[in-house]
Amino acid sequence: MKKYVFTPGPVPVPNEVLVEMAKPIIHHRTAEFEDIVKKVRDGLKYIFQTEQEVFILASSGTGAMEGAVANTLCRGDKVLVVNGGKFGERWGKIARAYGLKVEEIMVEWGRAVDPKIIETKLNDDPSIKAVLLQASETSTGVMHPTDKVAEITNKRDDVILIVDGITGVGVFPLPFDKLGIDVLVGGSQKAFMLPPGLAFASMSEKAWKFNETSDLPKFYFNFKDYLKSAEKNTTPWTPAVTLTIGLAEVLRNFREEGLENLHKRHQNLSHATREAFKAIGLEIYTKDQHSTALTAAIAPPEIGAANVIKGLKENFGMTVAGGQDEAKGKIFRVSHIGYIDKSDTVAIIAAVESTLKKLGHKFELGAGVAKAIEILD
Ligand SMILES: Cc1ncc(COP(=O)(O)O)c(C=O)c1O
Repeated sequence: MKKYVFTPGPVPVPNEVLVEMAKPIIHHRTAEFEDIVKKVRDGLKYIFQTEQEVFILASSGTGAMEGAVANTLCRGDKVLVVNGGKFGERWGKIARAYGLKVEEIMVEWGRAVDPKIIETKLNDDPSIKAVLLQASETSTGVMHPTDKVAEITNKRDDVILIVDGITGVGVFPLPFDKLGIDVLVGGSQKAFMLPPGLAFASMSEKAWKFNETSDLPKFYFNFKDYLKSAEKNTTPWTPAVTLTIGLAEVLRNFREEGLENLHKRHQNLSHATREAFKAIGLEIYTKDQHSTALTAAIAPPEIGAANVIKGLKENFGMTVAGGQDEAKGKIFRVSHIGYIDKSDTVAIIAAVESTLKKLGHKFELGAGVAKAIEILD
């Protein structure tokens, strides 16, 4: 049976990228590799929409999250964490691991943070040094209002905005310079259509000012070393050579596609999937603004998400993600990131219909596919 990955990371990788990565390894301290790094630097700046450097780290996304904290803050600093899901929770864990004082805004799963709460907290407590947020909270399918939060932090010289854009960068507009985000991180196994193993991070001038006084321990993820190396088209440590070569190919394709089309692609696939699921009587878990990286659907309670996930795997070779923590057993999540197109999307919707029909859910067979085709056309 043909296998499909519809998880919001890892994602399918285009064949031409796999072919590039299958070529014999090259050494990284060579003109040949420097030329690749140069192209990747330019391509990442295009996707991050920034004049700043975008660092290429050999780690999963969490490494860049940790680097964002370690490179900007000081021992004992207080940070404001938006915790509306698994990854918001992770910001809190990272900050605590570095001995920071953490104030959390607990957001109901499926809901987006209200920026007014952030503004009030910052007004009430001038000792808060940073706001830590997910642009897209993958565990709930929510898009938090990064732009509105940035408007708040931009008014303050003593507060930075650190954004986890791991399922946001390359998915929907998140213009780093224009919005005034201070640290933005991304990951390879998401919109970048690569296997896991690379993370990206960019810092604003304001974040670099914070860096001057930052005294948290840092070595492997010391962004100053990455900056110095990037200017010479290299990396401080041995880079993930193969993934970087793949990334150059992906970024070349993204340039051809164009940033606006890249965002539109995710928007269309997400819109079609959401409406298709509604047309077959499924409720969408995300209650506020949807991230276009994925669709989180509530499985009919009498069936349960585990049976839907199992059916998709056994009958169609399709892997989708389940829910975590409070959403465990309740939801299944279908991804629109990675090498996924219109036909893949119609296929997963058809497979969900077939699976639900077999499991006894009552709806008009084909209604979801018809809705998706209508939107995708
Ligand atoms: C929003 C978000 N943040 C952080 C992470 C963690 O990234 P990684 O698993 O690559 O360390 C993920 C991965 O799923 C994510 O979706």
